Amino acid sequence: MTRPLPELTVGILGAGTVGSQVIRILESSSADFAQRSGAGLSIGAVLVRDPGAPRDVEIDPALLTTDPAAAIDGMDLVVELIGGIEPARTLVRRALRQGTSVVTGNKALLAAHGPELYEAAAASGADLYYEAAVAGAVPVVYGLRESLAGDRITKVMGIVNGTTNFILDAMDSQGLGYADALAEAQRLGYAEADPTADVEGLDAAAKCSILASLAFHTRVGIDDVEVEGITRVTAEDMAQARREGRVIKLLAIAERRTGDDGREGVSMRVHPAQIPADHPLASVDGAFNAIVVEGEAAGRLMFYGQGAGGAPTASAVLSDVVAAAHHRAYGGHAPRESVYAHLPVLDPGCARTRYHVRMRVEDSIGVLADVAGVFAGHGASIQAVSQHDDSEPGACSLIVTTHMAREADLRAVVRALGHCTSVREIVSAIRVEGD
Ligand code: HSE
Repeated sequence: MTRPLPELTVGILGAGTVGSQVIRILESSSADFAQRSGAGLSIGAVLVRDPGAPRDVEIDPALLTTDPAAAIDGMDLVVELIGGIEPARTLVRRALRQGTSVVTGNKALLAAHGPELYEAAAASGADLYYEAAVAGAVPVVYGLRESLAGDRITKVMGIVNGTTNFILDAMDSQGLGYADALAEAQRLGYAEADPTADVEGLDAAAKCSILASLAFHTRVGIDDVEVEGITRVTAEDMAQARREGRVIKLLAIAERRTGDDGREGVSMRVHPAQIPADHPLASVDGAFNAIVVEGEAAGRLMFYGQGAGGAPTASAVLSDVVAAAHHRAYGGHAPRESVYAHLPVLDPGCARTRYHVRMRVEDSIGVLADVAGVFAGHGASIQAVSQHDDSEPGACSLIVTTHMAREADLRAVVRALGHCTSVREIVSAIRVEGD
């Protein structure tokens, strides 16, 4: 005789794009979820702001509540899909303190307040799962936290924001300027009405810090990430990169490396960069995400897929629900936060990169020598120089690409060029990665 499965009740906080898909899939495949997790899963309550609001998915009105306690207290699992810091932080803490496992997709919350939530989970024996917080359906959190736990990760580099990738791709493939590409992304629902978190790189920075914490077994947060968004990238920058066999992508880069003082630390940065057109990340187009992970034993791995959207993100949420439900029913717990490495966060200036500097200079004798002298004076070796005619009388356009150098030295080069009498204008300075 087969024993009946234990029955678990799930509280869902938020029924927006992702929450409604979680509810749809959970209800339509309940028999499969029971088999996979070893427990019957039923939705106990759904916390919403407005029970009367129109929804993509039909939800039993009896489940809808505006009372957080009704969706948390007494539940076996809580799924947080509200997003943002408050009230999500208070609600997640409430669940964890009661020993109730939480599944969240909230990257901003984890990047700002991860440690207190991990501690609350560990103290009460609850699980805290967050596969959906980075790159939607792409299982990179599990990959780093579990599949690669046997390796020493040295670098994580990826495209972790679909909105900006869509915008840059539209600029590249359609020749659009930034403002037009953003408007197109908003029209198609990829960018929000207020696109700040995406276009200024903050969403990518939150994800970068989560990936770095997992990859390097250390505690870092969003404030430790050096961030530059895509708002200053122009159609001409895109076209110039193409002419030189590269494309521009917004990259999140986390590295374990030696700092200026010889100690090992973590360097994290988010910025647009030219990458070679044949680099694996160059062909990641539209709103897709991809993350390249370098492990000492595994070598290079690439994770690729849909980084946003209701159903893809719900897929990640539900994988965590299956794991947390199994633990609730049969014992065991999710991997705890692993911070044993205690790596310092390195000064952003000691990151090593290459610069591609486009400037308008006087077209007269000795200018090239002046400009080359500025690079040499800051220890930055030049890899390529090209000169082109310019529409301004007496001027020409000069493009200099460097070899690898310290970020601080390259920034100093750009500052010094700005004071150079033969340089009329620094048109753009963009990093080059992935060679
Ligand atoms: N706004 C994010 C993106 C999706 O564009 O990738 C959720 O993190």
